[in-house]
Amino acid sequence: MLYSEKVMDHFEHPRNVGEIENADGVGQVGNPKCGDIMKMYLKIDDGVITDVKFKTFGCGSAIATSSMATELIMGKRVEEALQLTNAAVAEALDGLPGYKMHCSVLAEEAIKAALADYYQRQGLPVPEACKLP
Ligand code: FES
Ligand code: FES
Repeated sequence: MLYSEKVMDHFEHPRNVGEIENADGVGQVGNPKCGDIMKMYLKIDDGVITDVKFKTFGCGSAIATSSMATELIMGKRVEEALQLTNAAVAEALDGLPGYKMHCSVLAEEAIKAALADYYQRQGLPVPEACKLP
């Protein structure tokens, strides 16, 4: 089987799909490798992520990794969410085929873009870790 059970589960039943009205941070990124797009919405109270939603115009691996990434950052402090790497998300899904790893980058970058937006809206300096390559 090319994809793990967890990947298939998150692809078929993605968690936290949608939008958040009055989000505290919104990030949209595109994958230069394939043209796929992801938008991430964060609700943040007192530095804690209390809600996350995403929308992906993209492949199954992008959907599965975003879904898993939203679960991993839900309830976390923004500083912790910033540490989330695409490799950690892929690992939480029991791996992705090598040529699909680039899809997982979209989730990490969308979270960082949404966090950068949050810091900017708060009038705070954007941490180095938010900056996209
Ligand atoms: Fe997005 Fe394959 S490039 S579905
Ligand atoms: Fe485009 Fe997966 S093929 S994100």
